[in-house]
Amino acid sequence: MRRGLIDILELSVEEIDELIACAEDIIANPEKYADKCRGKKLATLFYEPSTRTRLSFEAAMLELGGSVLGFSEAQSSSVAKGETVADTAKTVSCFADIIAMRHPKEGAPLVAAMNASIPVINAGDGGHNHPTQTLTDLLTIKREKRRLGNMTIGLCGDLKFGRTVHSLLAAMSRYEGNHFILISPDELKIPEYVKVEILDTGNVSYIETDGLKQVIPELDILYMTRVQRERFISEADYVRLKDTYILTPDKLKDAKPDLSILHPLPRMNEIPAVIDSDPRACYFKQVLNGKYIRMALILKLLEVV
Ligand code: NCD
Repeated sequence: MRRGLIDILELSVEEIDELIACAEDIIANPEKYADKCRGKKLATLFYEPSTRTRLSFEAAMLELGGSVLGFSEAQSSSVAKGETVADTAKTVSCFADIIAMRHPKEGAPLVAAMNASIPVINAGDGGHNHPTQTLTDLLTIKREKRRLGNMTIGLCGDLKFGRTVHSLLAAMSRYEGNHFILISPDELKIPEYVKVEILDTGNVSYIETDGLKQVIPELDILYMTRVQRERFISEADYVRLKDTYILTPDKLKDAKPDLSILHPLPRMNEIPAVIDSDPRACYFKQVLNGKYIRMALILKLLEVV
């Protein structure tokens, strides 16, 4: 198994800091990187819908001078004939230098990594993990706040199925002085395994609540999420819960002037478009940061110096 990125905790804090530093250098000196991956190919294997993640991976590789191939719909590949993830990974290893895979089943990118002879990056597996969104979030927080510790971070919405939340908690709980406020309805609370493996392991400071308005004045970061319709068994439950939190201008009146509002996107109703012009809204800057940090990750995993 070649080194890829399946879980954010495979990267040490030092490696994350290096990736952020590399992304910041790419932002400052893009021309230095324009040919770094000449002749290299990235395969994007997406078994689940995506806009930002797939296109930012592809844009990242193109800006490094490399090329891209792959599929954005599993039904157009041999998956429709019943091919396994393991066999697809072996096949794509013959054609590409690195794989980014998104899959509705938790663990599928790990199976791909165990069978591929090239690095595999998890671009989101079911309701489990999404390590490159976390790198995107960390770069965004670093650029906005110049630090990754000593903050109060509110995570709001679907904390049960929201894979970006699970990976972000894993990463940010390793930095000193962070306090997490987990804001969700009872049915969408953080899964027990995240508590056992991350939050309750030692000195991670967190509380759970169902009220956004009450806690908003304390926050340095507000990480909003969409209710993950596709992971619900009952459509009626989704409809009942989908609009639990809507970040109105009125709620933001009590927030800190230097709050940073993040969202992995796509958004539904939880952030109305009227918020976009608020200087605290960072979610479209976050999209652009996603391309730069993926450039840094591709360079690292392909061992390009
Ligand atoms: C997220 C995802 O796919 O988990 N989107 C993304 O990658 N930017 C969040 C979501 O779909 O809600």
